[in-house]
Amino acid sequence: MKVLLLGSGGREHALAWKIKQSPLLTQLFIAPGNPGTSTLGTNIGISLVDFPAIKDLVLKNHIELVVVGPEAPLIKGIHDFFLNHDQLKHIPVIGPTREGAMLEGSKDFSKRFMMRHGIPTAQYKSFSAAQKDDAIAFLSTLKSPYVLKADGLSEGKGVIICNTLSEAEQSLTQFFDGKFGDAGNTVVIEEFLYGVELSVFVLTDGKSYVILPEAKDYKRIGEGDTGLNTGGMGAVSPVPFADEQFMKRVEDSIVKPTIEGLQADKIDYKGFIFIGLMKVDEDPFVIEYNARMGDPETQVVMPRLKSDLLDLLIKTSKQELEGVTVEHHNNVATAVVLVSEGYPGKCPKGKVISDYQEVGESIVFYAGSASTASNELVTSGGRVMACVGLSATLSESLTISYKMANQITFDGKYFRLDIGKDLM
Ligand code: AMP
Ligand code: GLY
Repeated sequence: MKVLLLGSGGREHALAWKIKQSPLLTQLFIAPGNPGTSTLGTNIGISLVDFPAIKDLVLKNHIELVVVGPEAPLIKGIHDFFLNHDQLKHIPVIGPTREGAMLEGSKDFSKRFMMRHGIPTAQYKSFSAAQKDDAIAFLSTLKSPYVLKADGLSEGKGVIICNTLSEAEQSLTQFFDGKFGDAGNTVVIEEFLYGVELSVFVLTDGKSYVILPEAKDYKRIGEGDTGLNTGGMGAVSPVPFADEQFMKRVEDSIVKPTIEGLQADKIDYKGFIFIGLMKVDEDPFVIEYNARMGDPETQVVMPRLKSDLLDLLIKTSKQELEGVTVEHHNNVATAVVLVSEGYPGKCPKGKVISDYQEVGESIVFYAGSASTASNELVTSGGRVMACVGLSATLSESLTISYKMANQITFDGKYFRLDIGKDLM
């Protein structure tokens, strides 16, 4: 099968790495890809959201399956674009239609979905700018801390947690004054949940589903979960507190009602659902849905997946997931993300990345990195690469990840030293 994978991050390097292992693959294209994916298939330098260019690429190369990595093309409607085009409509796209992607693209939409289908989540109310006085009145009925969320996508920066009522009122004003552009025109105010976070990944064909290995992400830039939110500074899979009993609760109270809810709402969904959860005492609550896999979670999930990913994706496209069981490796995967100085703010580019030798069972997944004309590997973004360690125990895997993280050098390299330490 000829596959096109869209994206250029560490997540896409990890997806390409796993798809490449499938005996069902004949040719892999990645658009735009990165230096890591170029070792696994053919990179094509086009934009993710340039649908006419993607169409030309698909038709010219007789692509038989399109796998969408990030959310932007989904929210812009790439799946709908294929369905509405005579020459493309028979080519399956892994990733939901625009309406399904609203689960990620609009917090208000996803909260209404969860309420409608009885899926546990924090209590909330949504307010538009015209309802600012009502929003302030609602805030005063809540206890600190206050959770305010921009309805739309805001690069992971649209969630503000305030300790005092006056801070919450100030943040509300900033949302409505356009600090997050149109994304903040509607604000979700919700109850604060106390617990531990976990990422659960589901692949659904719209009727049935399989659950992939779970992971824990480390979102803040600083050690001890301090400082600004990032795309993710590290990840671990499996997560010790997500035992069989807890995962059964997740499946029964969240995964099943989510798939049934999509069907009841007639939302065509073939693709990944990333469920961000909070474990409150023994009960799971949904913090957010994403219409894609996580980054850097994919970098630890894919190495733990024993089943053939391409086979699962083909079954997804044909609605044949019913009765399929997913096999996991019994190991622990850890990822330590190397970032450039300044991240999550502005970062310098073009810093030369040193050569390295793999240590033990390790994989380096590239993200914000590029090859120069003289074939030198240089930095090109905030999150540069993820050092993944694979071993029988968490501490051994972390040792491998950190050996790689210390060995690879580039000017301004930074990484967190405490990935996985809270799980030991
Ligand atoms: P989100 O973009 O919705 O995933 O939120 C970003 C982060 O804010 C989450 O990963 C949580 O750490 C935190 N957060 C969001 N909603 C809540 C909540 N209701 N209670 C506590 N923490 C939250
Ligand atoms: N690591 C979090 C995300 O991919 O959204």
